[in-house]
This record gives sequence, C-alpha cells and structure tokens, in this order.
Amino acid sequence: MRITSLLLCVLLAILSIEAVDRGKYKTCSQSSFCTRNRGVTHDGYHIANLHRKSDSQFTADFVSPYLQGRSLTFELTGLLDNTVRVRVVESLPKRYQGPLEVLEPLQEAKLSEKQKSSESTEFTLNSHVTVRIDFYYDGRHTLSANANDFLNFEHLRSKEEDDKIVPSQIPNDEATQPEDYNEAESGPWQRPTKENPKKSGRWEEHFGGHQDTKPNGPTSISMDITFIGSRYVYGIPEHASSLALTPTIRVGDANEREQVTDPYRHYNLDVFEYELNNPMALYGAVPFMIGHGAHGSSAVFWLNSAETWIDVETTTKDASGREKVGTQWISESGNMDIFFIIGPSGHDVLRQYAALTGTTALPPQFTLGYHQCKWNYKDETDVANVDSGFDSHDIPYDVIWLDIEHTDSKKYFTWDQNYFPTPKNMQEKIGDKGRRMVTIVDPHIKREGGYHVHSQAESNNYYVKNKDKNDYDGHCWPGSSSWVDYLKENARDWWEQLFSYYNYQGSTPRLYTWNDMNEPSVFNGPETTMNKDALHLDGVVEHRDVHNLYGMTMVNATARGLIRRHADQNERPFVLSRAFFAGIQKHGAIWTGDNTAGWDHLAVAQPMLLSLGLAGVAFSGADVGGFFGNPDAELVTRWYQAAAFQPFFRGHAHLDSKRREPWLFGEPYTSVIRDAIKSRYQHLPLWYTLFYKNTLTGLPPMRPLFLEFPSEEKIWNNQDQFLVGRELMVVPVTRSQQTTSRVVFPGAQKWYDITDGSSHAGGTEEEVNVPLEKYLVYQQGGTVVPKRERARRTSQHMDTDPFTLQIAVSREGTAEGELYVDDGHTFDFKKGVYSYNQIKLENGNLTYKTLGGVYESQLLIEKIVVYGLSSAPSSVTTVSNEKLDFSYRNGKLVIRKPNLPATREWSLQIKA
Ligand SMILES: *[C@@H]1O[C@H](CO)[C@@H](O)[C@H](O)[C@H]1NC(C)=O
Ligand SMILES: *[C@@H]1O[C@H](CO)[C@@H](O)[C@H](O)[C@H]1NC(C)=O
Repeated sequence: MRITSLLLCVLLAILSIEAVDRGKYKTCSQSSFCTRNRGVTHDGYHIANLHRKSDSQFTADFVSPYLQGRSLTFELTGLLDNTVRVRVVESLPKRYQGPLEVLEPLQEAKLSEKQKSSESTEFTLNSHVTVRIDFYYDGRHTLSANANDFLNFEHLRSKEEDDKIVPSQIPNDEATQPEDYNEAESGPWQRPTKENPKKSGRWEEHFGGHQDTKPNGPTSISMDITFIGSRYVYGIPEHASSLALTPTIRVGDANEREQVTDPYRHYNLDVFEYELNNPMALYGAVPFMIGHGAHGSSAVFWLNSAETWIDVETTTKDASGREKVGTQWISESGNMDIFFIIGPSGHDVLRQYAALTGTTALPPQFTLGYHQCKWNYKDETDVANVDSGFDSHDIPYDVIWLDIEHTDSKKYFTWDQNYFPTPKNMQEKIGDKGRRMVTIVDPHIKREGGYHVHSQAESNNYYVKNKDKNDYDGHCWPGSSSWVDYLKENARDWWEQLFSYYNYQGSTPRLYTWNDMNEPSVFNGPETTMNKDALHLDGVVEHRDVHNLYGMTMVNATARGLIRRHADQNERPFVLSRAFFAGIQKHGAIWTGDNTAGWDHLAVAQPMLLSLGLAGVAFSGADVGGFFGNPDAELVTRWYQAAAFQPFFRGHAHLDSKRREPWLFGEPYTSVIRDAIKSRYQHLPLWYTLFYKNTLTGLPPMRPLFLEFPSEEKIWNNQDQFLVGRELMVVPVTRSQQTTSRVVFPGAQKWYDITDGSSHAGGTEEEVNVPLEKYLVYQQGGTVVPKRERARRTSQHMDTDPFTLQIAVSREGTAEGELYVDDGHTFDFKKGVYSYNQIKLENGNLTYKTLGGVYESQLLIEKIVVYGLSSAPSSVTTVSNEKLDFSYRNGKLVIRKPNLPATREWSLQIKA
C-alpha cells in the first residue's frame, strides 16, 4: 500500500513537472475582448474628408456607425526607407496614447497617393464602404490592411451610454450579428445580446478568483493584415514555438475559417514550467512580424503595449495565384498604431524595423564570454571555489552570477551578512582575475519598515497604485511587496541613483545587474501578474495599457543607473532581463526564462532565439543545461556545443537542481565542454564584430538560413540549423544518442568544417557523423572569420592577443569580411575611437581597409589562413615586396607571422 502511494506521489510529481498549469492562464475564449474580435467582421469603418496635412502625411476623419457619432483621427504617414505608418487615434485623456517612447526619432518621407514614390512604395486607400489599404513595392502587392473587415475600434464611452447602445451598437440592430456571419464556419457568436447585455465582460471580468474592474469599459482594437506573396510569417516573440509560425486558423478552399488553436498571445507572464509548441504567452512581447516568400520579405510592427492576441492563417492563394498569409491583431486598449514595412528583402525589413525601435546597444566585450550562474552560489567561499574551479580545469569564463539568496531576506541592494559579509572584497578578488559579477535586482520591493528602498519609495510615492489608489501590495519572493512605477520620471531617476556605489553598499565597478520577475511576476495576482486595473503615473494610466512595457521601463532605468554610477558616465552597462518589449535591445540582453533540462528545450532554444533576433532582440540566450531539473552528461555537453554559438551564453540551474559546473560531469564530457567554451572564446572577435555590424544594419548575429538564402524555398522554415552572421553555419545536435546529423548546405558556395577544414558543396544535403566531441560548424566560402586562437582564462586576458584571419574563398576566388576593434568597455566608440576594417580578397590581392574610426593600438594580425585555393601560391608579398613565409597543404594556405597591424590599412599579394 505504502509503496503504491509513494509511486503515485512520484508519478504525480513527474506529471506536474511535465506540463504547465494551463488553467492558470487565460485562453482567448476566457478573454472578453479577444472573443469580441476574433474572426469578427465589422464592415462600415470608413474614412471621410481625406486631406493632405503635409508632404508626408494624409489625415482623415475615421467614422462608423459603431462609433456612435464620434469621429476619430486617421493618419497615414510616409517614413523614410519604405515604411508607412497608419494610426487611428482617439485623443482623450483616458485613452492611453503610447507607448511612443519606444520609437526612435522618425524621419518622414514624401508621400503621394496612388503614385510611385522615389522609394517604390505605393499604396492605395480605398474607402467607398469600408476602409482598406493596400501596399505595393515596385507595383507588386505586398501588404493589405483590413481586407477581411476585421478592423474594430471600441471608443471610450460611459457605462450608461454603453448600457443603452450595446444592443443597438451593431448596425441593423435586430440581428445581433452581421448578416453574413456564419456560425458554423466561424465559431459561436460572442457579442452581447439584448437578453444578456451585461454578461459580456465589457465592464468587469473575472478569472481565477480575481476581479478585473474596467472603469473605462470596452476599449479594444482589431485589424487584419495580409502578407501577400509570403509563404510563412515569423517573429512576434516570445513563444516556445516554431520559427515559421504555426497557423492558428485553417482556411479552407471556400475561404471558411476554422480555429485550430488559440491565437498567439502577447501578455508578459511568469509561466511556471512552460510548454513547447503552443501560442501561449511567455515573459516578453515584441509585436513585430515578418512575412517571406518568393519575392522577398515585408513586415508589420503593431505598436501597442496592452495584452494582444495574434491569429495566423494557413497559407492560401490570391486570385492571381500568389501565396498569402492572413493575420489578425487584437489589443485590449490603446490607439491603433501600425507600421507597414515594405522591404523588399529580409535585410531591408530588419534595417527598416531598426529605424523604428533602435539597434542593439554594443555589449561590453566581456558579456560575450561565458557566464556561470546557479540559484544559488551560497556564500563567498562557494563563489571562490567555483571561480578557481574554472581555472584549475582550464575552462574560460567571464562572469559569476548571484541569484536572490545573496540578499538580506530578498531585499535588493543588500547582502546577506552571514553568507556575504565582504562583498567588495569578493568582487575585487574576482576582478583581479579579470572577471565580473552580476547580482539580481527585481522590481518587487519588500514592504518592511527600515528597509531604505521601501521607505524611500513609499514616502515619495514611487509605487504602482491599486485601483483604489493605495500602494499596490502583492506577494513575491520577499512576501508582501510593492512594485516601483518606472513610468514615473522621478521614480526612474531615484531608481537609477540606487545603483550608485554609495547607495548600493557593497557594490563595485565589477558588479552588473540582472532584472528578473519583471513581467511583473506577482505570486497572488491574476495569472501570476499584476492586476490590470492597477494604476501608473498617479492614476493617469491603467496597468492594462502598459503591461507589456513595464519590464522594459525597469531595464532602461537599471541600465541608466549603471551608467550613472561612474563619474564620467563612460562605461557601458550590462543588464539581463526576463521581461521585454519592442526596443529592449537598446537597454540590455534577455534570456528565454525558466526552461527545463530536456532535449526538447535544447531544440526549441533555436527557433526561440531566431525569432527574437528577427524582432530586433539580437542579444539573447537560453539557460545552458535547462533551468529546471537535472540534465545528464550527454545533454549538458550537447547544450554547451550549441550555446557556444548563440549570442548570450550562460549556464544556470534551479535551487533544487544538482550542481553542474562543467567539471562535475567527468570525462569525456568535461573535455568536450571545455572545447566548446574555448571555441566561443576563439570566436569572440567575430561575435564582437557582428554586434557592431548590428548597430549599422539591424541584422542579428544569430540568423535563420532564409535571411541569407532568401530564394531557397526548402530552407524557409529550417530551424535545425542557423547562421552566425553569414560567415558560420551551426548545426546543433539536439537528440539523445544522436550519431549522425542531416545537414543542408545552402547557397552556391562551399562550406568548410571549422574543426577539420573539410568542405561540402553548396546546394547539397549530407548525413554527417556527430560523435560526442564533434560540433558541426561550417564557414561559408567567400567569408572571413576573425579569431583569436588562444582561449585564455577570460576575455580580458585576450585583449592584447593578436588576431588570426580565417578566410574561405568563394568559387570565384574572392572573400570579404570585417573586423571591429575598440577598447571593449567604454562609450568612446561613439566618438569615433574604434577601428572597423574590411578584409577583401580579390584577384590574389588581400586588402585590409579601414571603413570607419581611428583606434591607436599595437594589435597585430599574427596569422592568415586561407581555405579553398586550388593550388599553392608562388609567393606572398607585401606592398614593399617583402616576401612572407607560408605553407600550403591540402588546399589550406597558412601565412604565419605576417605581423600586420589590426588597426591600420595594409595589403598583400598572393601570386598564383
Ligand atoms: C529610457 O529612459 C529615459 C530616461 O528616463 C527616457 O527618456 C527614454 O524615453 C526611455 N527609453 C525608452 C525606450 O523607454
Ligand atoms: C591589388 O591592389 C592594388 C592596390 O589596391 C592595386 O593597385 C592592384 O592593381 C591590385 N592588383 C590586382 C591584381 O588586382
């Protein structure tokens, strides 16, 4: 008996680990605004009095019987670089007008209706009956707005007015649904009826024992957007889902629509033990989607920080046989503010999106190294032992992390006096070895008398308020807590100053910050987050309006705090965040939250990180090994091999997980992990260069194949392989006991295995052996990979090391690449103190040319390796005709010790 019940307990425990508690999170049908809009047509929204307001803008009145006599403002604005912004605005104080602060300064462009502009963007505005906007590139239709009449805008109203108008709100009132509505096809009709007008959740909603009061009533907006010429759509992170987004609506031959799953949800949530392959919300939200097909890419940015649901239809064909993907976007509140990004290529849309929300802040160089974290390294001795363990096992690492237990009873900006009595001393010892430390700082502040952060926040009114305008009080790690209102300028300013060395006692310049739980996570709140009727800015803005923005406002203030703590404000900050919104890349890195030690979580990290990169969030990673549970040695080893080629590289584990520092797994595992981490350090110059290039182009360092091979249909949805820049292709092993990998070699150029130099022709597929020690990384012909060959204890120890240029020639005998160099940690690069160089091989001429910046240094190129030459050169000479030593074997040319400068121009002649 006892054994059986024990077994049952164990079984239950396993079951509960395997699945998220879905009942804790809303579905669309449990959300009134989602239900009121999903798949629901509202014909009759149109525009009137269209007139030109400026060279770049048209405005009009936005009118409809649904608006009960109100007229909203419609604006259509041309922006530079093939982008058009469409807004529908109700400018009343109660309606949230943001989140406009995430936008970069926008540059307008001349716009002419129904006429090709200089940038080949064209649009037509059709509003005889219902407004519809079509966008063209070079005469080719790319995007349509409201082709399906899903546009809806719930204007502000009083409750009395709503009680009167609800039954008649729909034109031709006596039918409570449009005449053309087919229930069998589109699911049950959910709009309020005359008999039951109140049960609709319009003014109040309940979920999981929580009441959401809605003082402003229904305020949702909806629009359908069709990606014409696209086979797939991508982006809208964060979901534990595929790269090419799985459709949520199946469209049949007669255009009938069937709901397959819930729409993708954007509502920043702390989802405990998240499930894979579904559209449930996770920690962050970037409402940006890219479509791709035979003619290239186009994209849409839906600027709204309220809860949002996004449907993706199966691919269908339009009248002229072109593929198209329909989408519907539904937000709970805010204005309608949509950016139509016309491309025409994937590279174009990423640059165009970066012009709207910014590029990635150039990371300090050390942050691209390896990070070691555990909940929790328990005291200063533990920290010292882990730190020296890396040295004694000859494994490089840069940063050691402390989770919540390092504080005095979860009071951030403090230290546990017993376990961390000398935090400065601890950081200095770490710092002496060239390393850094990160401590966690969360947005929930313990409500405890005498805690300086709480007493200052409380007395100065810096907390988010509840609906009754008292400090919002919820449960989180410290127990009863309140949350800082980072939307308030004075609260932000105060928060920034908390990071000064004086205010954050025990902090040093070696200390950086981790913002966790900032969705925000509220243990006793609805869906484990903050109540939507909580109030920001002293009651001006409802939490409902800014929920998805909240976490990022914290990261912004934290990053600024880390900058401000230095007298000259010239050091780059580093903040890692779990929650995020569009534009987070300007402030810090993110990770994919609390994943699990399973092969499926290793595999899903790729599509998740690729989707993030496509949405501008280039600096991201997944916890190596998986946060929950215990990976076996094989899984953890394969995970290191994959993550060594992903942007943010950190090992982390749950409080209840076993220790898993790389040397605990024994041989051969520790050696294989060491090799993976060392190969990361050898490639730091490439990573750093790619992050610099991101600031010029918006292109993420980690890229899906389709971005570089846009016309190769069969790889449009490939998520088993990815690129680092255009230089490297990585094919991680993601299955237990896997002995071979099927590798697609795209393009026309050869791919050179970076571990043994063997090559594979482009346009082929091959089954490749993957014994444990083998990681598949290939360099594309025609590229240059800058490296530093000696992987030392930290990235800082490699600062003065010489570089190796690893060149793989194209079929034409050419190659091109870049190397970016600066001091690695200050903002001096913004004043031109850097050296950005182009390396080019053409006709046997190898030239090193500075594209930008001036950086005085003694840095050298110590070696040049060239793969793919068909025969040994007769000579290698400098411009002054000095002959250089070289060796040539099996197609590999090695020029040893050319000792050329890395921050000044030079050229070499490689004679056939
Ligand atoms: C970041 O904070 C600064 C200062 O508080 C503010 O001016 C800026 O708009 C913020 N940026 C974003 C993207 O919210
Ligand atoms: C090599 O480069 C030099 C300097 O740019 C140029 O003068 C020369 O013509 C080039 N030689 C070839 C073979 O392209």
